[in-house]
This record gives sequence, C-alpha cells and structure tokens, in this order.
Amino acid sequence: MAFIRINGPTPLSGQVVAGGAKNAALPILAASLLARGTCHLSSVPRLEDVATMCQVIEGLGARLAGMERGIKVTVDDVNDRVPPEELVRKMRASVLVMGPLLARTGRARIPLPGGCAIGARPIDLHLKGFHAMGAQVSLADGEVEARAARLHGASIYLDYPSVGATENLMMAAVLAEGETVIEDAAKEPEIVDLATFLLSLGADVHGAGTPVIRIRGVGELHGADHTVIPDRIEAGTYLLAACGTQGDVSVHNVVPEHMKAVVAKLREMGAEVQVGERSVHLVMPGRVRPTDLKTFPYPGFPTDLQAPMMAVLTLAAGSSVVTETVFENRFMHASELMRLGARIRMDGRVAIIEGTDHLWGASVRATDLRAGAGLVVAGLMAHGVTDVCDAHHLDRGYDDLAGKLRKLGAHVVRVEDDDYFAERWERIHLR
Ligand code: UD1
Repeated sequence: MAFIRINGPTPLSGQVVAGGAKNAALPILAASLLARGTCHLSSVPRLEDVATMCQVIEGLGARLAGMERGIKVTVDDVNDRVPPEELVRKMRASVLVMGPLLARTGRARIPLPGGCAIGARPIDLHLKGFHAMGAQVSLADGEVEARAARLHGASIYLDYPSVGATENLMMAAVLAEGETVIEDAAKEPEIVDLATFLLSLGADVHGAGTPVIRIRGVGELHGADHTVIPDRIEAGTYLLAACGTQGDVSVHNVVPEHMKAVVAKLREMGAEVQVGERSVHLVMPGRVRPTDLKTFPYPGFPTDLQAPMMAVLTLAAGSSVVTETVFENRFMHASELMRLGARIRMDGRVAIIEGTDHLWGASVRATDLRAGAGLVVAGLMAHGVTDVCDAHHLDRGYDDLAGKLRKLGAHVVRVEDDDYFAERWERIHLR
C-alpha cells in the first residue's frame, strides 16, 4: 500500500487547477447506459473511482475509449449481468447503475454494497423509489434485484434528500411511462449536472437543483456530448489547505456559486477570499479564528470537507464545534489527528476542537477518502514528517494530490510501500 509523506509546515503558495467532479462523473457514466449511441464526456477526472465505474459499465455492455481529458462511451445493447462484488464493495456508487439498468432492460441486480467506513449507508430510499415506480424489489443471496417490464411514473417523497437516491430515481424515470415527481430531492450541483446530461440525451427533466424534480418519460435516448462540472470538493480541499498553512493560493476551474458555504466559513475564520468568475483566491494573513459548523446537504457545508476543515481548526486560536449531520461515524480522522497533537473531544456526532499552537508529524492512517484528505491537510500544517498511510483511499477522489501540492511549494512525496520497506531495510543494513 502506498503512503504520502509530508515534511511540514510550508505555507502553500501559487496556482492550482481543480479537475472534473468525481461525484458528477460517476452518475453521468452510469447514465450513459441509457443512451443508444455514443457520448463524448469531457473533463472526466483520472480517478480510481472513475476507473471502477468504467469497469462496471463495460461489464454491462458499454464500449469505452479514451479522449483527451475525457471518455467516449458507446452503448448499443445493455445486458443485465450482475456487476462483480469486488467492484461494488470497492465503490458504493456502483449502485447508480441500478436506475439505468432497470429503465433500459427491465431488470437490475447488484451485490448489496454493505456498510462502509463512514456508517451503514443503506440504499432503502433508492429501492422504495423503484418500488413506487412499479418495480418488484427483492433481496436474496447477498444481492438486490429490481424488476419491472416497464417502469411507470410515480410521486416519490424522499425521507431525506439523498444524493444517490435522487440520481438513481432520475435515471430510472427518464424512460418510464408517464411523469415522475421526486420531492425533497437532493439539490447538489452534481444533480444539476446529471440533469443537464440527461436533457442532452433527449430526456425531459425539470427542477433539478430545487427540492422538486419532474421527469416525463420518453421512448428512447440518444448519444450526446457533455463536459463535467468542476470538483467543488477538490477545490475546497486546496482552499482549506491554503488556509491551514497560512498560504496564498488561487484555485482555478471553480464554479464559485457552488462554493458559497465554504467561502463563507473561510472568511469567518479570517481568510481573505476573492471570488473570480472561474477561480477563488485565498490569502490567510494569520492564525485561524475558531468557528462552529454543521454539515448539511447542499447548499449547506459539505460533509466531504468536514475532515479537512477539522484539520484546519486544530490550530485555531480557540475552541470550535463541528457537528456531522449527514453521515454517522464520520469522525474516523479525529483520533488520527490527535496522534499529531490535535485536541479533540467527541460526543456522538459532535466534535469539540480546542485549538493548539503546534501539530507534530507522525504516522497516521487514512480510513477513507475524505478522512485521508483531512490528514494530508493536517500533515501540511504539522512540524516534521507525517506519513499518511493507505493512500489508495486518496486515489479514489484526488488526481495527483502529491504533485499538485508540490507545485504549491509543499514537501510532499508519494511513496509505494515497496520503496518504504526497501528504504527501511537499507537503513537497518547500514547500521
Ligand atoms: C454522495 C457523495 C458523497 C457525499 C454524499 C453526501 C457520490 C458518489 N457520493 O454519497 O461523496 O458525501 O453524497 O453529500 O456522489 N441514506 C439512507 N438511505 C438511502 C440513501 C442514503 O439512509 O437510501 C443516508 C445515508 O446513510 C447518509 C445520508 O442518507 O447518512 C446521505 O447519503 P447520500 O446523500 O445518499 O450520499 P451518497 O449518494 O451515498
């Protein structure tokens, strides 16, 4: 397993470009199964999760070819094979092929994704929605199956604005008979991007980005070209890293409208933030001011930036309270941050962070993608060497994280474990 070694602290400085949004690219790749024809998808990030989704849709009949900074997806016929369990376990977003499969072939089967490091993460809302649209849903032998000769439109009220459920139901509804109305739908920019893509395929979708999405089913969808929106979480990670290291960084390829909650918090913490048309520039002139925050569905503060934010608050001049409302058990990074000297107390979904003067480098473990990002940010702020182990989690969502941070002046290398052992062996040998 690879790890990331950081020798800190260094105030980050310079320019960085965010890539296409992972969380938009994944449902869009799944949605390409709905089209008969070829889709040219641009600004698809080079990430492990994207590679996994490509493998999943290839197994279902899609033919893929690389384009410059993108992927060409051609779909003639779709089969209803079960995606391999190891891919679904590797990436829960594999469940997003269910909607398109059900709509296109009348049958969708996937191995149950199971729990994961950040909580139970059930898919009950996805399944309830399919059921409301006329599908028979059954669970057997570790697989979930949904079947319907043709789905019909339905009025669906989500108990919670789940991003994945909203996406899966939108994709199921575009080929259904009649109108589907999804209420209390998720409003994330990635939902809007999926709707934009579905519209370009010939679907009839209205209201994406609001709590009520209306979809009128059509007979068939065709290929189209689409450019994926920029990754607001990647952009936010670099802004937080700049804030935590008292740096001066411009992040390009950003839709500032998508970053309002993050920018507001950064300003509250004392950062000078200038918002351009497609970029955000941050200068952090001194020590971070403490702040309280709660994660919420969009447009609230994103749960995916909670860990990097907690890392930054460990050096604040006072106490901060962070409440995680979206996922249970998403504080795995807190105990690792404490290994670096952070002072954090946890009570269920609430973490109280008492700012300290220094963090010290140590070896820490990334338990999931965003926890790993938090630890990298902390490593940039800490004195001495921090090794963030299990770096493969970071490959799921950050393209060339170490390289981009190096361009901002950080002393960061990615080390493959083989090198690590070789290096340690050499040291022992030389003694
Ligand atoms: C997506 C994002 C993830 C982000 C999350 C919240 C992708 C690929 N991933 O995940 O990065 O952290 O949104 O912004 O886009 N829930 C249920 N039943 C369901 C579905 C969800 O109870 O059927 C619960 C989950 O357990 C969780 C909450 O709803 O507590 C939010 O989950 P959801 O919005 O569905 O997140 P994902 O789509 O999995």
